[in-house]
Amino acid sequence: MKNKIESLGMSTGKIIYSCDDCQDIHCLKVAKTMEIFKSSGVLLFRGFGVTHEQMKTFAERFSSKFIQDYSRPQVDSDKFVHFVNPGMDACVFHSEHAYSPFRPDVIWFCCAVPAVQGGETTFCDGVRVWEELSEETRQLFISKKLKVCYEIPVDILKRVAGLDATIADIKQVLDGLEGVNYQVKENESISIEYIFSAVVKTKYGNYDAFANSVLALHDGEMKKATFENDSIVPGEIIDEIEQVTDELMEKIPWQAGDLVMIDNSRFMHSREEFNDNQRQIFSTLSNLNS
Ligand SMILES: [Fe+2]
Repeated sequence: MKNKIESLGMSTGKIIYSCDDCQDIHCLKVAKTMEIFKSSGVLLFRGFGVTHEQMKTFAERFSSKFIQDYSRPQVDSDKFVHFVNPGMDACVFHSEHAYSPFRPDVIWFCCAVPAVQGGETTFCDGVRVWEELSEETRQLFISKKLKVCYEIPVDILKRVAGLDATIADIKQVLDGLEGVNYQVKENESISIEYIFSAVVKTKYGNYDAFANSVLALHDGEMKKATFENDSIVPGEIIDEIEQVTDELMEKIPWQAGDLVMIDNSRFMHSREEFNDNQRQIFSTLSNLNS
């Protein structure tokens, strides 16, 4: 690869720049790009002028499957490319769909228009977060798993799971998933209880990573994250996680045409607030081939 490669802030992440011989994102070789991605976990491709259509076709070369996000406005005919969260507020750190048994391997972002000021996507390395948390907190999350309960229409579950299947097929898939209890309702929906660890093994390297949705669950409508025994994650633990993630936070200072690829098994991401309505960032979720 002749492209210039630089570190992304103080993180393991890398910036890969376009060059005279490689101005189109599709010039990049999949094998070499994956080699860098596996060790760095975050790649920012800069200077390639990537559109959301190109993000999808580039991601296809690395991916076995796309995962739909039904909660966000979709912009392509396949409904796999979305606008990111509406609004201009900051978000809290989370791994994408970490509350779901169909958590994607990678989240891709591309920027059509950056915010005039602020609005950076931020990220932190879950391996480093796990190292920095206190021993008491580590023991708490080792001894207790998290629990989420939600109801999802069957049609949407099919799309989230990438299944083109009957109810019987869906039941078979759910039966095979660790930590999932479910009930098929009469109104064509399925109630799901999912019990999962806040500490996950990274897809590459098999490291322990604190990469989950604890802060988002705490910050969400329910205003609480719960353990499997229905006890609430204490506020002082939430405070400690926020402090550690803030200290490890890195920023992606968006430029138009940037593409970003984040290892969702290792990193959490969020965004900074902004105050103009220009910002246009798209995302897509996928599982990787290798
Ligand atoms: Fe997200």
